[in-house]
Amino acid sequence: MSRDAKSGGCPGSGDVSPKSAVCEANPVYAGLLPRAGRSLSEEAEAFLDLLSMEPAGPGVTEARRSEVLRDIQRHGFYEHTSEELLWGCRFAWRHSVRCVGRYFWKQLEVRDARHCAAIEDVAAGCIEHVRVATNGGAIRPLVTVFAPEREGVEPWRIWNYELVRYAGYRAEDGEVLGDPAEAEFTQKCISLGWNPPGSRSAFDALPILISGQGFPVRFFEVPKADVLEVAIEHPEFEWFADLRLRWYAVPIVSNMRLDIGGIRYTAAPFNGWYMGTEIGARNLADIGRYNMLPEIAERMGVLSRRENSLWRDRALVELNRAVLYSFQRDGVRMVDHHTVSDLHVLFEQQEAAVGRPVTGRWDWLIPPLSGATSPLWNRTYDPTEYSPNFFPQPMDW
Ligand code: ARG
Repeated sequence: MSRDAKSGGCPGSGDVSPKSAVCEANPVYAGLLPRAGRSLSEEAEAFLDLLSMEPAGPGVTEARRSEVLRDIQRHGFYEHTSEELLWGCRFAWRHSVRCVGRYFWKQLEVRDARHCAAIEDVAAGCIEHVRVATNGGAIRPLVTVFAPEREGVEPWRIWNYELVRYAGYRAEDGEVLGDPAEAEFTQKCISLGWNPPGSRSAFDALPILISGQGFPVRFFEVPKADVLEVAIEHPEFEWFADLRLRWYAVPIVSNMRLDIGGIRYTAAPFNGWYMGTEIGARNLADIGRYNMLPEIAERMGVLSRRENSLWRDRALVELNRAVLYSFQRDGVRMVDHHTVSDLHVLFEQQEAAVGRPVTGRWDWLIPPLSGATSPLWNRTYDPTEYSPNFFPQPMDW
């Protein structure tokens, strides 16, 4: 996600609501503000305060509170119960300022994989995540949580941006077959001994690279049968199928760090389902990605040297229609950008009604197609990233 941040400079981005107002209205959030130098006990307590306020949550007993503080004092560490982990993950989603799909935050499910001690088990846990989340197209929002960072132990890391992603093969002349965003990562996989399929295509799934806890980085392939993909066709243009475009069903972001109550989960892949424009207006359309607009416009007979013919826009709309149509045809869950924006308005209303701060990044919440048709266009957002949350972590492979 951090890789394809949209450019700023938008009406809403500079104008944030004052944090102090939020903290006065809801003092628990003051303890969840991003602040360096806070101790583990302070972070843990702030999280337990938040958890104890959650009407649908498990509650926090005094005994549990003292147990956590005692564990921290004795071992410099504490372990989340499975309920704390579940709600911690849900809060992390609720606080994700870049996500326009947060209306569904309470539906998030968690697979607890903290016991995985060998690198093969971590790989198997990732592959199982792909299967469970895909669910035959009825996609389930899911996080798999591996063991957190501990002092003196090299943390688990998944080096992929997402568990499923397509290779980008760069030729001598600089041309890329596949996804240019993955060209460097693909090279890394090959240097580690990964063999691309005999006949390379623009849509070859990459292996998963994992390291940590003393295991040097290794690659693992996701069985082909577990990767659900959708062939992109257009509801009217028969020639569209000849472009042989496809995309995978589930975006499972795997390179972010999940922070809950001061505990840092460095490997915690998570997914929701796609919004159509992520594929139709970015992955397949961006000039630096699959760059399909010129070819689509040509086949439509509208390609022109004149920008004011709006050939790009015409091709873009048809590509997005094709993506939405194809996912629906195959029964793979996906949301369009209008529906998801309406749901975000409901999410904001629900949050405000229970006195929680509504946060967001305007430049991420506005869809990359028909931005001003979104009901979020005229709103302003406070971009504060409260804890728990998902944070970018360095990709220094
Ligand atoms: N934009 C990313 C992609 O195209 C996915 C980011 C997460 N998206 C989501 N709908 N949960 O693969």
